[in-house]
Amino acid sequence: MAQPKNSGEDFDDADVARAYANRPPYPPALIEALAGLASGRARALDLGCGPGKLAIPLADRFDEVWAADLSAPMIAAGQAADAGAHPNLRWMHGPIEDLDAPDGGFDLAAAGASIHWMDHARLFPRLARWLRPGAVIAVVEGDGPAEAPWREAYGAVIRGWVERLGGVWNDPAMIAGSRAHEAWIGEPRRAEFSHEVRMSLEALIDGEHSRATWARAKLGPDRSAAFDADLRDALTPHAEEGILIFKVRTRLLYGRPLPEPMTHSVAG
Ligand SMILES: C[S@@+](CC[C@H](N)C(=O)[O-])C[C@H]1O[C@@H](n2cnc3c(N)ncnc32)[C@H](O)[C@@H]1O
Repeated sequence: MAQPKNSGEDFDDADVARAYANRPPYPPALIEALAGLASGRARALDLGCGPGKLAIPLADRFDEVWAADLSAPMIAAGQAADAGAHPNLRWMHGPIEDLDAPDGGFDLAAAGASIHWMDHARLFPRLARWLRPGAVIAVVEGDGPAEAPWREAYGAVIRGWVERLGGVWNDPAMIAGSRAHEAWIGEPRRAEFSHEVRMSLEALIDGEHSRATWARAKLGPDRSAAFDADLRDALTPHAEEGILIFKVRTRLLYGRPLPEPMTHSVAG
């Protein structure tokens, strides 16, 4: 069976939203860095907020945070996780491209593992207006196991399943698509953060099903169980009393959103 194509709508799914709580966390230093990039602390925008992995901690650092997502189950999971702790957090359901936001209204826009799902030609001209002078869009990527003695064994299972579903490992077209937003970010700067995470093998496996490719609704029950069994077989020897230790590496790209993409002319 060919691999179903991934899309932003894959997250509009109750099991994906539930399993999201088992994704490894971002490094705390990333959150501090995001707040430090802001032009002020009045209002931040989280694009494709999911259950609030960025929006909730940012709400401790800004007067107001708008957390927007097209998935109702994700918004519900975020509201449940926050449990009303941040009255300054405004959850907004709908595509970010249709958001009704004030010009110059934000000191920071952050997109965690979400920008590649969005329509850049509609989003970036709006973002360029929504941000205050000096404010940046911060693109955050990377919440999987990046460093561990078992990283290769884990990667082999993931690669095997991509191929089993008819996908191409490190598909150049997919890589280019995942970087398409870079043309819309002026004077880009980059940083990287990492931290050690300890979590149970079973939580790590469940969290994989919050990723678009491994959503249980797309894999179906039999393939979901086989995927889990492969990961369990590969990683059980590396778990101590069911716990895995690994490092998450998170990449940050930030700069001014451009109303039009940069084009590069090729000489010759
Ligand atoms: C991988 S999750 C990231 C969640 C969270 N930002 C994080 O860093 O963990 C991607 C999220 O982007 C949302 N999304 C995708 N396309 C979107 C769009 N056009 N407008 C709003 N949200 C979108 C999905 O519903 C999903 O919740």
